[in-house]
Amino acid sequence: MKILAFWDVYWRIGRKALSREIDVIKGQYTPDLCIANIDNCSSGRWAVEKHIYELESLGIDFFSGGDHFFDNITDIQEYLKKDDAKLLRPANFYEQRYYDIPWKGYSLIEKNGKNILFIHLIGEVFMNHNVYSPFLKFDEILSEVADKGLSYDVCIVDFHCEASAEFYGLAHFIDGRAGAIFGTHTHVQTNDEKILPWGTGLISDVWMNGALFGVIGAEYESVRKRFITGINKWLISQSLEKEYVISAVSFEIWDDGKCVSVEKIRKEWSL
Ligand SMILES: [Fe+2]
Ligand SMILES: [Fe+2]
Repeated sequence: MKILAFWDVYWRIGRKALSREIDVIKGQYTPDLCIANIDNCSSGRWAVEKHIYELESLGIDFFSGGDHFFDNITDIQEYLKKDDAKLLRPANFYEQRYYDIPWKGYSLIEKNGKNILFIHLIGEVFMNHNVYSPFLKFDEILSEVADKGLSYDVCIVDFHCEASAEFYGLAHFIDGRAGAIFGTHTHVQTNDEKILPWGTGLISDVWMNGALFGVIGAEYESVRKRFITGINKWLISQSLEKEYVISAVSFEIWDDGKCVSVEKIRKEWSL
């Protein structure tokens, strides 16, 4: 089966760019499952409910978040309470730390006759949250799924992390137990797509859908003040440039759960 992952939809320009280009890219890569990360989808932070529906209407089957998951949490409470909420948060956040709101850190998604186990994890290194080990959590999720008697054809992992070494550590840790692992969070596409010896396809960062210039999607001037002064009181603002980038990764995974091809996608346009 083919999986097309768009990462990460950044602010209004990211949503607009995706709505303009998604049909052409889906036509080209013919995915069975289409997913996207929306950690910065609304005002550079986690998606609000209306934007989740907007992206669902584009034909995206499932979403994941990241370190900004709680930024707009009050707006998406009702959405998260729905049984069919198509939204993951990192599974290894400490559960007791945050609001008493239902959430999923992994999900079994049925699509085109296959069951896909989609797991979302966040890194421990250079991130703003203290989290449980993503390594141990991965093992625990597979045990939990087995204990529940659930079966799946393909396992994919979104690892929202900053450090390449941590990404590669987890990628080798799960090699042969997942069909694909893709890094998110840095908003910088890496040139390292490959298939590991036991059949796990990877790219350590997919990049984003958003402004081509600026600082990982944000307007340069608003970020410059923070770096120059060392004070974080200024809000970052979205880039108003017309140039944007669409980035994604396409995996093909066979029925044995092993990856047979991984292709990174990067396209630049002007609105
Ligand atoms: Fe992000
Ligand atoms: Fe992030």
